[in-house]
Amino acid sequence: MSILVTGGAGYIGSHTCIELLKAGYEVVVVDNLCNSSEEALVRVRKITGKEVKLYKVDLLCQEQLTEVFQKEKIDAVIHFAGLKAVGESVQKPLEYYYNNITGSLVLFNVMRKFGVKDIVFSSSATVYGNPRTVPIREDFPLSVTNPYGRTKLMLEEIFRDLYVADKDWNIILLRYFNPIGAHDSGLIGEDPKGIPNNLIPYITWTAVGKLEAVGVFGDDYDTPDGSGVRDYIHVVDLACGHVKAIEKLKENPGIRTYNLGTGIGYSVFDMIKAFSKVSGKEIPYIIKPRRPGDIATCYADATLAKKELNWSAVRDLNVMCEDSWRWQKNNPNGYQGG
Ligand SMILES: NC(=O)c1ccc[n+]([C@@H]2O[C@H](COP(=O)([O-])OP(=O)(O)OC[C@H]3O[C@@H](n4cnc5c(N)ncnc54)[C@H](O)[C@@H]3O)[C@@H](O)[C@H]2O)c1
Repeated sequence: MSILVTGGAGYIGSHTCIELLKAGYEVVVVDNLCNSSEEALVRVRKITGKEVKLYKVDLLCQEQLTEVFQKEKIDAVIHFAGLKAVGESVQKPLEYYYNNITGSLVLFNVMRKFGVKDIVFSSSATVYGNPRTVPIREDFPLSVTNPYGRTKLMLEEIFRDLYVADKDWNIILLRYFNPIGAHDSGLIGEDPKGIPNNLIPYITWTAVGKLEAVGVFGDDYDTPDGSGVRDYIHVVDLACGHVKAIEKLKENPGIRTYNLGTGIGYSVFDMIKAFSKVSGKEIPYIIKPRRPGDIATCYADATLAKKELNWSAVRDLNVMCEDSWRWQKNNPNGYQGG
């Protein structure tokens, strides 16, 4: 069975390619490499000893995407490709809507033409906005505060409309919490271009001296230590969740939505402490004002994924920090080191 992975050279995509190959799937990647490197897939081949095909194609180019579907026999799609920086999306809403929404519409259209109607989509916990209570269940009300989040919510709505119109589609929407960590080989990991947006690359870059200090945005939230609490999930656990979702598609489930998180919340200070312990380094930090749109606490109720996908996260905080650190230490300049 052959899986098309859009955005497969990226952080979560490359880890998912490994788990798909390990589970015996053939993998075809479509990525325009706007936020990733071909080297990630070279390393995926090295880790698995298996082939993964890369088409350097932009989803916005219907012609080139059609050629991929003509050449390859695709059975199902995992759709990661998209721009993902919340702050940048506020500055560049048109670019975000065009890339994430139009790119996805082109993909769905080509899939329909070729009769490929099984898809797993990368959604995000951001669609829950500021939840009234935690842990967050899939049936909680949805709301978003920035263009990036809106692209996720809009695409979820588009999928729901698509399914109403055509019941042949099988669609699994996966709402990720906060992916961190790296493959335990230390060969692949998160390689942000420019200044990182997420906490862990910020911490690891500070530990290796690429940044002076970690910015802690707000220490006066209503949380045990005042800093924001999030549900950090190991990227390999997340990747395994995608393999389970592909298996679920074989049951013709219609449209389903699952949280992928651990169900445990850690604060920014917890993360700095845990990372400092694993790396043996002091991690300097500076308290900064709260960022607009940030919420105090966010963690998942992941029982539905356990029940219906037979999936749950197994890697703890220590493993997440160790694996992030191994990747950072071995590749201080990410994939640029070769
Ligand atoms: N990392 C997170 O914290 C997080 C959390 C929730 C959801 N997500 C979602 O998961 C998905 C993957 O995230 P990631 O962290 O691996 O990001 P990433 O930037 O590492 O990967 C995205 C990939 O998509 C590619 N891409 C972007 N636009 C494209 C286009 N038009 N055509 C072809 N390729 C294109 C990029 O080059 C990149 O390789 C994204 O949709 C993201 O929004 C990520």
